[in-house]
Amino acid sequence: MRIIAVAMTKGGVGKTTTAVNLAHGLALRGRRVLLVDTDTQGQCAKALGVEADLTLTEILTGEATVLDAVVRARHYLDLVASDHQLTRAALAIARREKDGHRVLADALAPVADLYDDAILDAAPGVDAVAVNVLACADDVLAPVALNPAALAGVYDFVRHVERVSRHADRLCLRHILPTFHDLRTNLTGGALGQLRENFGDLVGRPIRVNVDLAEAFGWQKSIFEHAPRSRGATDYEALVETVLLKAAARV
Ligand SMILES: Nc1ncnc2c1ncn2[C@@H]1O[C@H](COP(=O)(O)OP(=O)(O)OP(=O)(O)O)[C@@H](O)[C@H]1O
Ligand SMILES: [Mg+2]
Repeated sequence: MRIIAVAMTKGGVGKTTTAVNLAHGLALRGRRVLLVDTDTQGQCAKALGVEADLTLTEILTGEATVLDAVVRARHYLDLVASDHQLTRAALAIARREKDGHRVLADALAPVADLYDDAILDAAPGVDAVAVNVLACADDVLAPVALNPAALAGVYDFVRHVERVSRHADRLCLRHILPTFHDLRTNLTGGALGQLRENFGDLVGRPIRVNVDLAEAFGWQKSIFEHAPRSRGATDYEALVETVLLKAAARV
């Protein structure tokens, strides 16, 4: 199982939209996918219209195993949901004296053979759960909204990943995903140029602004179900393709 953390400290940059659509896109290609929501907002379950009795909180506190908590969301796509209770798990982890950053990695280990990909939807910020998300990841996929405020946060995030990677040998920032690309404004074109100048080949093909992506959430569908011919579906399909190619290249 390859673990991809969709993470960025800045909020509202398209992490959840990316995690949900990447996860479903990979599942539609026949990959066995586990989507793990690690945010108190609990958006992944809402995005896919599923409910779960047990959540990541019980997994991280040792009250349940990942196999107890997992629910089927789509064909080939399972979900571990989260909700506001996750704060309790974050506090419990933060109080641990030893190996507090490895709790999620250890919790996911029993299902490593059951899935090809685990996609982790990270919360904004840098609490104990967010550090666990990075510490168990093979790859970090970092969505960056193409506006000056979000761009400024990227450098802090890259330093944050570097700090965590000292304690996590597999961790690698593999993909910066420009989001909210708007061809009508020079602002996003300039921001994209700046990202490419600083991060070169790490920067992938951008996700354009597309209202269908926001609407899909309301209908509890992925973009591939809600609007398969939309720009959003085209852009996320291209991301799925890139992730599959990178996976193949590493085997
Ligand atoms: N390419 C896009 N075009 C239009 N709207 C989008 C796009 N990507 C995401 N959105 C919308 O923008 C909002 C924020 O996106 P999302 O929830 O994915 O961000 P996030 O980084 O997960 O936020 P948070 O940090 O709060 O978890 C949502 O309403 C989502 O539907
Ligand atoms: Mg989110």
